[in-house]
Amino acid sequence: MLAMEVLVPTFRRDLGHIPVYRPGRTPEEVRREFGLDSIVKLASNECPYEPFPAVVEAVRGAAAGVNRYPDNARRDLRAALASFLGVSPDQLWLGGGSNELMYVTALAAGGPGTSAVFAEPSFGLYRIASQIALAEPIPVPLDGAHRHDLAAMADAIRDDTTVAYVCNPNNPTGTHVPSADLDRFIASVPERVLVVVDEAYFEFASAADYGTALGHALERSNVVVARTFSKAYGLAGLRTGYFVGDASTLEQLRSIQLPFSVGNLAQVAAMEAIKHQDLVRQRTDENRTELEFVSRELAARGLPVADSQANFVYLPPPVDADAWYGHLQSQGVIVRVAGGGVRISIGTNAENTRLLAAVDNLLAGG
Ligand SMILES: Cc1ncc(COP(=O)(O)O)c(C=O)c1O
Repeated sequence: MLAMEVLVPTFRRDLGHIPVYRPGRTPEEVRREFGLDSIVKLASNECPYEPFPAVVEAVRGAAAGVNRYPDNARRDLRAALASFLGVSPDQLWLGGGSNELMYVTALAAGGPGTSAVFAEPSFGLYRIASQIALAEPIPVPLDGAHRHDLAAMADAIRDDTTVAYVCNPNNPTGTHVPSADLDRFIASVPERVLVVVDEAYFEFASAADYGTALGHALERSNVVVARTFSKAYGLAGLRTGYFVGDASTLEQLRSIQLPFSVGNLAQVAAMEAIKHQDLVRQRTDENRTELEFVSRELAARGLPVADSQANFVYLPPPVDADAWYGHLQSQGVIVRVAGGGVRISIGTNAENTRLLAAVDNLLAGG
């Protein structure tokens, strides 16, 4: 028999070496696999509550207009956000989630002969985007308390480094870097290196020594702050995030962004959502109460978690992360294996109680 010649298109040689971003499993997949009635998804650090009622109303009202492309300059949203943050609209750059902006940044600052420094474990996109941009990834291990080791990160910056990422609070550990340490790090980084301070979980952080890098981003052309509407604002499904930074730095980055990446409904929703800071605060307060509850209950079971300033907790190795993932999933609770440990998003009180019951079942050898 003749061997069939398989014709395939030609791809980049390194394509198979670029890690693939794997989102958590959907509740529907898990429900079907295990024949369960209900599933609790604590895998993607989402807000467990529906968007604010006025946001749902605004999206409903705008739905009939989606035959038109969105405003590519995002003028209204940029103006509203600028006035909320006390910055000028040209110090803002909006994208389809902060993921898109970090991806574009890696492409704009990367290329052959460059490198990018980030902590490990941290948000997986930093490595993926660097590799896609042909920049050499330079991961720097977290310290013994699962925090960024900023001194080691500063030392790891090479002559060819063009980007350094600081995830604050850090995903997957939830830990934060004290603002004094961040100030020192930013002051020590050469101005040719772009520092991306990813503050996706900024709204949840309440530690006295936590601080935003917004001031640095407004003062220095090599610092940008990344924020998102996906977490505290509960708009993960609509995809909007933004960078704050120097206008000319953002203009360079924006030059290779795809057009129309923030849809009409995403713009409308984000504009409405920022008007409801009282509700944002209510949710972040609820998150803190539940975070403390889950952390305390896990510690009482001999499972101390890293000190979290976000909307998730992290059980570090030597926990058997794969066994945990499989066992909890079989009981209808989806968590995430990340950084060699288990990352558990904070849900509603009922969801967290169900998580703890599933943990008890696991510990009892169930
Ligand atoms: C640290 C960090 N940055 C950014 C994002 C992505 O946010 P967005 O939904 O805005 O793309 C996430 C999402 O999980 C995250 O954990």
